[in-house]
Amino acid sequence: IREDYDEVSEFVANYIKERIRQFEPGPERPFVLGLPTGSSPIGVYKRLVELYKSGQVSFQYVVTFNMDEYVGLPRDHSESYHSFMWKNLFMHVDIQPENVNILDGNAPDLDEECKKFEAAITRVGGIELFLGGIGPDGHIAFNEPGSSLTSRTRVKTLAYETIIANARFFDGDIAKVPKLALTVGVATVMDAREVVVLITGAHKAIALAKCIEEGVNHMWTVSAIQMHPKGLIVCDEDATLEL
Ligand code: GLP
Repeated sequence: IREDYDEVSEFVANYIKERIRQFEPGPERPFVLGLPTGSSPIGVYKRLVELYKSGQVSFQYVVTFNMDEYVGLPRDHSESYHSFMWKNLFMHVDIQPENVNILDGNAPDLDEECKKFEAAITRVGGIELFLGGIGPDGHIAFNEPGSSLTSRTRVKTLAYETIIANARFFDGDIAKVPKLALTVGVATVMDAREVVVLITGAHKAIALAKCIEEGVNHMWTVSAIQMHPKGLIVCDEDATLEL
């Protein structure tokens, strides 16, 4: 538990920096990092860019896999997760573009795209650290309430609550929010050797309580972290209101 959003961001950025440095990645042995979008990780990305610019971390041998992407939104749309990732992190650091993996929500065969994504994760030896955020309904990636805890990367229909929550990025217009997304599954996240989840703000307080003080439950999918041998939730004081 950290005081506020800035301290959460600072802590998590330093944590990731340390993990990458300790791993000593190289061309034959890259550090494989899973990444989220949303407002939660923006502070972490900002801080990681600063750490890169001051020479404290390099992404040269880091391979990334993003959690999710909207279906049908053009890749260069300002709210696509492709745009988000390049704008907030990738264009400011030394990552090699071929090491960036983001699901293609415009692929002609979406199921095939999901299979290819899982295969790519396997090919690099799995994910070392998966960073995530959650929705107010406790979803991780786009694993909406009711998602199987053994789910893998697939097409998912967004919950109405998620569409409302994300309308703020689409001129507040629910009609403009894509209704489908490609998302890693709960099991894809939990297969990572380490999972770090960011939870900030009073609007996530119920979700945090459900996820750590009640049982593992597919209606609050981030609760699966309870079963992970190396799971860490980093939250601010506001998010602890219901604990
Ligand atoms: C979307 C993303 C999630 C993210 C969530 C929370 O639903 N698919 O990965 O965790 O938004 O977003 P925010 O961090 O803006 O609250």
